[in-house]
Amino acid sequence: MSLCRLVYYSERNPAVALDTRTLIATCHKNNAPRSLTGMLHYNGTYFLQVLEGGRADVSAIYHRIATDPRHINLILIGCMDVRERLFPTWSMGLHEGMGDRTKEIFLRYFPKERFDPESINVDSLLDVMQDIATEL
Ligand SMILES: Cc1cc2nc3c(=O)[nH]c(=O)nc-3n(C[C@H](O)[C@H](O)[C@H](O)COP(=O)(O)O)c2cc1C
Repeated sequence: MSLCRLVYYSERNPAVALDTRTLIATCHKNNAPRSLTGMLHYNGTYFLQVLEGGRADVSAIYHRIATDPRHINLILIGCMDVRERLFPTWSMGLHEGMGDRTKEIFLRYFPKERFDPESINVDSLLDVMQDIATEL
């Protein structure tokens, strides 16, 4: 199996209701049987998601996610083959909100204390996600 990692960000669609608990329950239900793992950060405006797993499974779930009306303006910033997973134990970890600890993590890698699409680069984003994950 070719292991790959896909990273994208998107904006919440304010016109469509969002219940993150329902969303994450769906993620767990669908991802676990496909050995898909990853992490989702939602700050109230943007979603950042890392998906890891077999190439075909990652591709299929991304195409499904991309048509989800709960978010808009998806920007794919990385899709690469990898040797190992960054989030091996989570069928999808959810981190929500922007507390002081999270702001401090963003400032380690970016000039601003929250996600800013203008200054995004995939390596720093993965560093942020890993640091957030260790604090979950
Ligand atoms: C930001 C975001 C991230 C999502 N991530 C996943 C995911 O990792 N796995 C998943 O199965 N569905 C995910 N979804 C939901 C899918 O778009 C879709 O609603 C779901 O896969 C449908 O599953 P169901 O047919 O079992 O209801 C995500 C949706 C959004 C808005």
